[in-house]
Amino acid sequence: MTNETRNLQSLEKTICAKLFSIKNDGNKSNNPILFSNDLQLNDQQPFFYSPLQQLFEFYHRWGSLLPPNITEREMEISHQVKDSVQRIDDCVVVPELIGSPVDLFNSLELSNAGHKYDALVKKAQRVKLLGAISLPSIYDVIIWLKNKGFSGVLDVYDISSIPLKIGQSYQELGLLPAGLQVNFINKPAQKIQKDGQSDLIISDVLGYYLTPEDYSVLASAVANNLNAGGVWLTRELIEPNGEASLDNKTVRRSYAERLNSFNDFIEKIFSFKLDLRILEEWENTRWSKAPQYSRKSKEEYLFRVPESLFLDFDLRVSSKPLWDSVNRRIFETMAFFKKKSK
Ligand SMILES: C[S@@+](CC[C@H](N)C(=O)[O-])C[C@H]1O[C@@H](n2cnc3c(N)ncnc32)[C@H](O)[C@@H]1O
Repeated sequence: MTNETRNLQSLEKTICAKLFSIKNDGNKSNNPILFSNDLQLNDQQPFFYSPLQQLFEFYHRWGSLLPPNITEREMEISHQVKDSVQRIDDCVVVPELIGSPVDLFNSLELSNAGHKYDALVKKAQRVKLLGAISLPSIYDVIIWLKNKGFSGVLDVYDISSIPLKIGQSYQELGLLPAGLQVNFINKPAQKIQKDGQSDLIISDVLGYYLTPEDYSVLASAVANNLNAGGVWLTRELIEPNGEASLDNKTVRRSYAERLNSFNDFIEKIFSFKLDLRILEEWENTRWSKAPQYSRKSKEEYLFRVPESLFLDFDLRVSSKPLWDSVNRRIFETMAFFKKKSK
């Protein structure tokens, strides 16, 4: 084993000790994995932000608790994906979505609108990310911004303290990419300061958590926070037929193989495996007890956006498996410019 590998392993153990604690690894009937005391904070969606859910995000995106090597990270959309893009009805159907705000940035690339926004990102002083489910997603945004030459302040907002506290832990360990300042803010996105300071505001699949009235509040707060000439880049899960309907979670992956490899990851991190029944139960409740989110139509969203913001760009995107499912998942990416006052 090389020194470097040993150090990486000890770093992963340090992160693990900072984030998680083990209740009783001898007891197979209960899930023994807890968050560490630092992360045991009030959380409005404890189910969504369980230790297993957060671990799953790390497993799924990084295969490790350690961030990937930035230089090896491929953030741009690959030629392979570009070549297999299909246009069906008014939707761009891609083989796969990454499942983080990177999808939103890739929407810009897919429509060849990306270059228009590059200059804005490069000279931006302040960017806001509204709603981030996990550190790997936040990390993706940081890398993307850095790749585009951003060197200002990034404010990350979420109503859940968990991904933010995890982000702070990585920050304390010096594991966030250098070159920009990141603030983690545990507040509803509707409460961003009305200070006209941001050049770019990113919200990714946030609208279905909000009532239409709250969405209006959010859109106005965004408009008041953006600098003149600034952009709100947003992606929403939409109801394609224009009718609000409940998301009945019909997309299910066959999970036996996935749960086994997630358990291998758990073993790598904690040196024990969970009883598969625990993971199966978690996987089932993850879907069945997840809140039933209502999808809105694109028009419903647009209706809530104040006049000071104008729609500059929109693109409807789905992944192939989500497009082919009974209950299609279609994401609407929109970019709104804040008009410069005359
Ligand atoms: C579906 S996730 C979005 C996916 C995420 N962008 C990603 O990176 O994969 C929505 C996130 O928004 C957060 N959220 C929900 N309502 C919010 C609100 N009013 N203000 C801020 N964050 C909110 C949730 O806690 C969750 O982390």
